[in-house]
Amino acid sequence: MQVHHTVASLRAARATAGRVALVPTMGNLHDGHIALMREAARHADTVFASIFVNRLQFGPSEDFDKYPRTLEADCEKLEAAGVAHVFAPSEEEMYPQPQRYHVDPAPEHVSILEGAARPGHFRGVATVVLKLFNVVRPDVALFGKKDYQQLMVLRNMVAELALPIEIVAQETVRAADGLALSSRNGYLSAAERAEAPRLHRELAAIVAAVRAGARDFAKLEAAALAELEKNGWKPDYVTVRCRADLQTPQGGDEPLVVLAAARIGATRLIDNVEI
Ligand code: PAJ
Repeated sequence: MQVHHTVASLRAARATAGRVALVPTMGNLHDGHIALMREAARHADTVFASIFVNRLQFGPSEDFDKYPRTLEADCEKLEAAGVAHVFAPSEEEMYPQPQRYHVDPAPEHVSILEGAARPGHFRGVATVVLKLFNVVRPDVALFGKKDYQQLMVLRNMVAELALPIEIVAQETVRAADGLALSSRNGYLSAAERAEAPRLHRELAAIVAAVRAGARDFAKLEAAALAELEKNGWKPDYVTVRCRADLQTPQGGDEPLVVLAAARIGATRLIDNVEI
């Protein structure tokens, strides 16, 4: 496996790599990321991963400086997962001058859910992902359903800008008790970690109810919010949305997803399940 710190070195490797899959990450890798790498190998001759903590997608009060940087351990995991090339640019390499040109996602896609709590976040994500696409020129790129709104925004970016890249979505990798894997799980105390799977259980209960014919989403959402609050959570939202654009369902038969964000102690967890 080769680790590239410059665009020039990365591009030279890409030139002879055949059909290429790209898995963008910010490092600090866990088994959820590794599942993306293994899936990527099924879609291409050569798997490229990127590791870049992207300042553009962090708000002024967010943890950019504290974000864990664990390149050596990450590279060991990537090599074991069959990744051929890692792009790990410095900030100066990725942003040699202040980034003044950006991708502005549709306001209705980013003013809701995670975007409501993090103004500018998805603009930063879309901008860096387009830039990574231009550096690597992958045939296919993989993203996790764990970050469902991110996946939706990037799918729409690729479609509306006619980027010649196939987007593949990876199912969320979970611990045995249902908790979605996330680097944030490491911040949980033992008691919080024991409580954390409730978030997924509440979502699974809504999925089961809707599949059984329930259509009063507001009632299901309110029951889940109440159950979380009763157990010490501070939920931001539990909401049933259309998969394609994450807008409120209008009563047709469009595919749905239920999404949630809630704070347990000092840690904010997100999760979602397709219905
Ligand atoms: P990061 O948080 O490092 O996540 C990298 C990829 O791993 C994303 O596509 C994310 O959805 C996926 N992922 C994380 N946890 C997962 C899990 N439990 N199961 C399946 N997939 C999981 O998302 C980002 O980085 C950044 O915003 C990025 C796209 C790299 C742009 O900077």
